[in-house]
Amino acid sequence: KSSKGLIKVDPCRVVGTVDDKTYSGFLEHMGRCIYEGIVDYDCKVPGLTNDKGYRLDVAKALKDLEMPVVRYPGGNFVSSYHWMDGVGPKENRPRRPELAWLGEESNHFGTDEFMEWCEFIGTEPYLCLNMGTGTLDEALAWLEYCNSDRNTYYANLRRKNGHEKPYNVKYWSLGNEVWGPWQVGQMTAEDYSKTAFQWAKALKLLDPSIKLVACGCNGFSEWDYTVTQALISQIDYYSIHDYTSSSDYYKNVTCPAAAERAIQITSKLIDLAKITQKVPNRNVKICFDEWNVWDPDRAPGHLGAEEKYTLSDAIAVAAWGNLFIRQAPHVGMANIAQCVNVIAPVMTTGTDSFLQTIYHPFLLFCKYMRGESLNLHVEGPVYTGETGFSDHVDYMAWIKDIEPALMLLDVSATKKDGYINIAVANRSLDEDLTTSIVFEGDYQEIVTTYTVYHDDIAASNTIDNKEVVSIKEATCKFEDLKAYTFKKHSFVLLRVAIA
Ligand code: AHR
Repeated sequence: KSSKGLIKVDPCRVVGTVDDKTYSGFLEHMGRCIYEGIVDYDCKVPGLTNDKGYRLDVAKALKDLEMPVVRYPGGNFVSSYHWMDGVGPKENRPRRPELAWLGEESNHFGTDEFMEWCEFIGTEPYLCLNMGTGTLDEALAWLEYCNSDRNTYYANLRRKNGHEKPYNVKYWSLGNEVWGPWQVGQMTAEDYSKTAFQWAKALKLLDPSIKLVACGCNGFSEWDYTVTQALISQIDYYSIHDYTSSSDYYKNVTCPAAAERAIQITSKLIDLAKITQKVPNRNVKICFDEWNVWDPDRAPGHLGAEEKYTLSDAIAVAAWGNLFIRQAPHVGMANIAQCVNVIAPVMTTGTDSFLQTIYHPFLLFCKYMRGESLNLHVEGPVYTGETGFSDHVDYMAWIKDIEPALMLLDVSATKKDGYINIAVANRSLDEDLTTSIVFEGDYQEIVTTYTVYHDDIAASNTIDNKEVVSIKEATCKFEDLKAYTFKKHSFVLLRVAIA
């Protein structure tokens, strides 16, 4: 079957700049993410790790994504993490019970190891503060350890540990999911607002150059209203989290629409707080510092963390990418959660690794969907069945009333370095969509296309069969875009060179 679509592209219709930090990552001491993913201190395979124990195959896969920022050390883990346990000689570091995932933490990978790894990868660190069992004193000490060049105790402790120069960590978040009932040290919005306000003031006294991220919820809850109102004058980013997923194909690929609505609503809450709190010129952006496709119930293991991704999930991740581009004016940072082994595009065994299906659309976004976001006109069939949107936001009945019409063709576009980049997910399960792509302006004759497709929507990559779903590069003529066929359940990125 085949239906028709229309995409109109006008390079002058710029809606905003895509912040490079949209393609950031997240590492947590959870499952096999750090130990066995980022480092393997016991590796016996020649060449798989370097002298610092870094997994070189993982480092290469993450380097290719050019992630500007990586968030660490949690996640829920951070709410009972004491950073001092993870610095100094390894033989002196205490092994601790860990309360988020009920494991044990050796503390062999800590602040200095993370900073060195960031340098190796070419990314900037983003640290999350412990607002569960941690204190403001401890947070200030961590900031001093990382950023101070003065002759003071924690700055000198860093020097003693072999790191003369400060790390200058710019991004710091005030706790993680502090609202969650699973959290060590769960707080009410009022209590969090009061404490985070005090922490923010003190942290900025010690280092006024840092950027602070407040802990938001889903972006459209009471928590979000209260916390944006209370903290707007102190913060630089407001964080929201969401993981989408469904075993139903259409729900899986339409679910990210809920995150797009969340961004739109959060940006209004931020605007409202700026007006009511009389700080109209404050620059506060959304930091979507955990997002991905994840259903803990369908992943094996007690953490439900080692999600196995299919082509359906790759299409869902493409929909996530598209929404970040469309909402570019509001998004200051977004962090795929996580990077390796845990809810991750990259998976390892003790001797090898492979890229999951979701890595491929994510790589294409990371490489090409930067620059200026364009406002498009898109026509095509609308999905009329039950969507993931309504399922996902079930607990907030009112938001269902503002469910957008979900088109099968999910599209975004950017302009950068003389190219128009158009990202198209055809979410139809059974229809190819022959689409007329119409442009303002003049373009070169040859267009490059990158396609992620497989006949079987359940296709996935494994350690023994790594390339079942991957990127196929091809070219077509600019003329061909007048009637370009997007195959059913495919993701295509088109690169069109401006003449
Ligand atoms: O990324 C896994 C977990 O999901 C994080 O620890 C937590 O912040 C979120 O609930």
